[in-house]
Amino acid sequence: MKSVKIGNINIENPICLSPMAGFSSLPFRIICNEMGAAYSPTELVSARSIRYNGIDKSLRYMRIAPEEEKITAIQLFGSEPEDFEAAIETILSTPVLKEVSIIDINMGCPVPKVVKTGSGSALMEDPKRAAAIVSACKKKIAELCLNVPVTVKTRIGYNSEDKGKPEFAKALADAGCDMICVHGRTRIQMYHGESSNEAIAVMREAVRGYNIPFFANGDITDVKSAKKIIEDTGCDGIMIGRAARGNPWIFEQVTAGLSGRDIPDLPGVQDRKLMLMRELEGRLKYLPEDVAVREFRSVMPFYIKGLPGSAQIKVKLCSCNKADEVKEILGID
Ligand SMILES: Cc1cc2nc3c(=O)[nH]c(=O)nc-3n(C[C@H](O)[C@H](O)[C@H](O)COP(=O)(O)O)c2cc1C
Repeated sequence: MKSVKIGNINIENPICLSPMAGFSSLPFRIICNEMGAAYSPTELVSARSIRYNGIDKSLRYMRIAPEEEKITAIQLFGSEPEDFEAAIETILSTPVLKEVSIIDINMGCPVPKVVKTGSGSALMEDPKRAAAIVSACKKKIAELCLNVPVTVKTRIGYNSEDKGKPEFAKALADAGCDMICVHGRTRIQMYHGESSNEAIAVMREAVRGYNIPFFANGDITDVKSAKKIIEDTGCDGIMIGRAARGNPWIFEQVTAGLSGRDIPDLPGVQDRKLMLMRELEGRLKYLPEDVAVREFRSVMPFYIKGLPGSAQIKVKLCSCNKADEVKEILGID
């Protein structure tokens, strides 16, 4: 894919990891970037919590490593422009976090706990508020004399009859949003049914006249589906979510396939186990061992899916609390 600019940031090979709560850990994001992802945003973090509780409680979810990741993005959710202003001020004055390349705003999360506070997907039903949030973020960043772009990740609509929300996309662009990424499902669909490239294209067309990149997301599982979403929507970049869980190699494959090169084979059993350990060891650098292993239990089934004896390995791994036990079960020295 052609490189694009998000604000002042050059994005080569605009194929990114889509943020996923519970999966977008720092080590996983670093691995995905090594495999070819242009950048990998953190999972969603509450702007309100940062405003009222400070950074410590949320730091675990928005840990970034600018040197290793190269381009970094922190995703915030909320419904009050003032919460975003305060959260951005805190982030941009905290060591390391202040080096973040991009602030991304979640306007697509369908989870009731988030939606009922007017955040995530609920913002699609309130374009004025959504635009006010983007403007507030841009204004705060300008006040701090910084040049951090503000992006939005959203969906094709809220209700099942929505087939794209062109006016919503325009409102975001008018407010100064530096990139829009659209997942081709409505809020009501959550993660069910098919992602609609047609509806994504409606939003893409709405903002074609604005000089900002547009990313598409939803159901990209291989080179073929990546090519299709690009052709169907005319997007400038793509984000890959679920298909990357336990499979960071997808970035290598999609990058090769889209560049017309031979698609590398997926790695063998041992390499998959080693990658799994790498993700766990990465977590051990900043989490207590029992927490790191416990959190890791939800990630690990994706790495071992389809391997010989995976069902038994999974049962055993789900009951261990120490990294050495994980290694022993996997048969790694
Ligand atoms: C477990 C899980 C957690 C997610 N967490 C987030 C999140 O924190 N922020 C966000 O913008 N999207 C989140 N998403 C949505 C994904 O980023 C993506 O938009 C969606 O899964 C569709 O893309 P895919 O078909 O490639 O998975 C999450 C999805 C899943 C499955």
